[in-house]
Amino acid sequence: MNNTLSPNLEPLISIRGLHKHFGDAHVLRGVDLDIYRGETVCLVGASGGGKTVLVKHILALLEFESGSVQIDGIELSGLSERALSLIRKKIGMMFQNGALFDSMSVEQNVAFPLIERGIRDDADLDSRVSEALKIVRLHGKEKMMPSELSGGMKKRVALARAIIDRPECICYDEPHAGLDPVTADTIDKLIKCLQHDHGITNVVITHDLRSIFRIADRIVFMYNGRVYWQGACDEMHASTDPIITRFIAGSDGDWDN
Ligand SMILES: Nc1ncnc2c1ncn2[C@@H]1O[C@H](COP(=O)(O)OP(=O)(O)OP(=O)(O)O)[C@@H](O)[C@H]1O
Ligand SMILES: [Mg+2]
Repeated sequence: MNNTLSPNLEPLISIRGLHKHFGDAHVLRGVDLDIYRGETVCLVGASGGGKTVLVKHILALLEFESGSVQIDGIELSGLSERALSLIRKKIGMMFQNGALFDSMSVEQNVAFPLIERGIRDDADLDSRVSEALKIVRLHGKEKMMPSELSGGMKKRVALARAIIDRPECICYDEPHAGLDPVTADTIDKLIKCLQHDHGITNVVITHDLRSIFRIADRIVFMYNGRVYWQGACDEMHASTDPIITRFIAGSDGDWDN
């Protein structure tokens, strides 16, 4: 297993021995993973392999079974909801399928996490929505409804919602799904812009090989409920591991988990 980053760096997210069952299905089987500040990590692996379940543990959205998840050195397991909400503020999430509220305008969708946190000052909400929409290049679209937006615009609104509370890290679940290559490029540029211009740490779940090789500083490959391999893009290209070479060849649908 490779780790190209210095072991002296302090991880923002540190996961050790994480297990998760759903009934008889043993989905996470001892995941060990560190995510370092300021990097873009692509989390890859077979469909149904536990990538979304893993990221939900980073946000403490699932009940902990065994193992440890630490954010900035703070163990999540056993924290009160109040303490968790402070930790969750550090991590923005762009959920699989975008998940916008159809009955709400763009600005209402984007402001939602702030309103949930009890922020009611209209001027503050407006300026933060406007700042987030500027970053995703949707400034001026505040009053539009989700039904009036293209698929790519919806993803950008979802991204604006993920960054509205100024997180240190954003987890993206399949941000390229359903997008044409040009629109997927726009999302990739935004992901890298957030990393380079805003210092955000990115954790990107994706199957899109083109995007992976364009945005990843490090690729983390999950297999059999664990981190099977991790390394930089050139290390993945150079790998002779048959599971990794099959992944690069694009035949990622036929592994068993
Ligand atoms: N809340 C839940 N209750 C029961 N089973 C679940 C739940 N969430 C996930 N699972 C199961 O856990 C396994 C891993 O799911 P997960 O969504 O993490 O996969 P994934 O790697 O994200 O796949 P994909 O690439 O298709 O999104 C699947 O078998 C799924 O059915
Ligand atoms: Mg998933």
